[in-house]
Amino acid sequence: MCGIIGYIGKNENTEETIINNLKKLEYRGYDSSGICLFDNDEFYVHKSLGEIKNLYKNLNTKIKSNCGIAHTRWATHGKVSILNTHPHLSFDKIWCVVHNGIIENYLDLKKELLEKNIKVCGETDTEVVANLLCLHKGSVLEAIEKTIKILKGSFAFCIMNKNEKNTLFLARKNSPLYVAKSAKEVLASSDPVCFGEKFEDYYALPENSICVAKKDEIVFYDFNLKEIKVKKTKVTVFEKNASKGNYNYFAEKEIDEIPHVLNNIITSYSSTNYFEKIDHEYLKDINSIKLIGCGTAYHACLMGAKFIQEKTSMECSAHIASEFSYSNPKINKNTLCIFCSQSGETADTLLCLKLAKQNKAKIISLVNVPHSSIARGSNIVLPLCAGMEIAVISTKAYNAMLFVFYMLSLHMYNTKKFKNIDIIKKLKKLNKTNFFYNLNYIDDISNVVLKSEKVFFIGRGEDYVSALEAGLKLKEITYINCVSLPSGELKHGTLSLVDSKSLVFVIATKKELLSKNLASASEIKSRGGNIILVTNLNVDEENLQDVDFVYHFYKSPEELSSMLCIVPFQMLAVKTCLKLGYSPDKPRNLAKSVTVE
Ligand code: F6R
Repeated sequence: MCGIIGYIGKNENTEETIINNLKKLEYRGYDSSGICLFDNDEFYVHKSLGEIKNLYKNLNTKIKSNCGIAHTRWATHGKVSILNTHPHLSFDKIWCVVHNGIIENYLDLKKELLEKNIKVCGETDTEVVANLLCLHKGSVLEAIEKTIKILKGSFAFCIMNKNEKNTLFLARKNSPLYVAKSAKEVLASSDPVCFGEKFEDYYALPENSICVAKKDEIVFYDFNLKEIKVKKTKVTVFEKNASKGNYNYFAEKEIDEIPHVLNNIITSYSSTNYFEKIDHEYLKDINSIKLIGCGTAYHACLMGAKFIQEKTSMECSAHIASEFSYSNPKINKNTLCIFCSQSGETADTLLCLKLAKQNKAKIISLVNVPHSSIARGSNIVLPLCAGMEIAVISTKAYNAMLFVFYMLSLHMYNTKKFKNIDIIKKLKKLNKTNFFYNLNYIDDISNVVLKSEKVFFIGRGEDYVSALEAGLKLKEITYINCVSLPSGELKHGTLSLVDSKSLVFVIATKKELLSKNLASASEIKSRGGNIILVTNLNVDEENLQDVDFVYHFYKSPEELSSMLCIVPFQMLAVKTCLKLGYSPDKPRNLAKSVTVE
């Protein structure tokens, strides 16, 4: 969480360059933001609450600086306030620090500072670090090295010191940080997306490394100050494709891109055999498959586990990363752990990946952001090919996860059962369907949502997973409290909530489960609830007497239905959100990339 920018450049418009780049990181958090410009041996610090655009208010544009750092905050330690907003200065005003991550032992360290009569005014862990830096004698680099060695937790730091002009000091452990250099400028950022416009390549700071960045050179060290070599990474279209185009919101654009994502996957997987290493030898000794992710990616894991188990009959389960790591999981060399993450930086998922590695499990990951920490930590990476996803709600990346899990399940079926299904042909079949079929009804449906007091999503099997994801999308950006549950669970408690002000979406895409889903609809109707059936099956009129409206999405072979049925719900969430006057790109309290546990 939080976004960091560091910049060394020309004397003109430094603040503008920094703030424009910071805006590209707004998806990481937008509770408050701040900038520090190094001007005439002084640090000029300016902060504001709310969105980054507020940072321009009262900013002193007369300052002529060619070096600065900035931060967009998603509060973890301490409330949203100017005092807690980064950058933080040390008490002697020699150090200025921005930080992404969590320092777990900061309260103990704060106590130590107090014992030395150094008062920390705010509530953040970062301010403690800024003050710890002053305690160490020696060079700037040595002070940084000594300080970070006593920190527990995760961090990406961008630091300036008054005695070292035009220099950025960077350090990372368990939080991403990148730096790029051209003939004229140096830019450090939490995300390479900032490099798309002006740079050809960039460096990803290795885990546990420090970097000293100046206009003429960039040098990397390990935590013992031994110089290390770091390879450059080329800037790709992925980093360049970060604009809204003609859309008002990224969320709208990203839903519209779903068919292109499928096309990208078909092209990319046709030209490269990403499944090559997952051969018979690789799968032979595996006795358990665990799919791990958070939020929407966890929902994709639930779906993926159903796809894989159905096709291969191998034991396959999905796990929420934050629960998995603390559940004493049984993992060994016969376990296959499959990690799924859009950003590739989610701290909870990354922690599970480390655990899987320590226990010698086989590791595959489905990741959208190339070169992300999860991608770099995995033996086999299955790219999601969704292009940059900027809206905080995940839409096209979820679809991409389902497409890739579907392909993986077919590949594993081929490998385990010595079959030869043409995977690309199957995807091409999906490509001939229509993801946006009947979306003109969504407007009316969103009016019904807005009139309802309670919204429920129910389904069985894969449809239950779609119910979970549909509910998450709606609540995430409309703040409407909704409940998703398996149809069969209604009568075990939640049915007591259903009344005439309730709207229930019943999702039914499997013929053999239709009658059971319709029975649940009858249970709801007799309690006065309104029912919208979401299906692509043929349902006889006489079976629909308890249903108020049937939303038909595109008819397809059953095994493809779950990949089609989520799109109307993604649209419904966005439409309803816009009617309420909220931004679908930036829901309150949330951030796109959750790099803290
Ligand atoms: C919901 C959403 C989140 C993410 C979750 C995991 O719309 O976007 O639930 O899915 O934070 O993020 P990644 O996929 O980056 O690991």
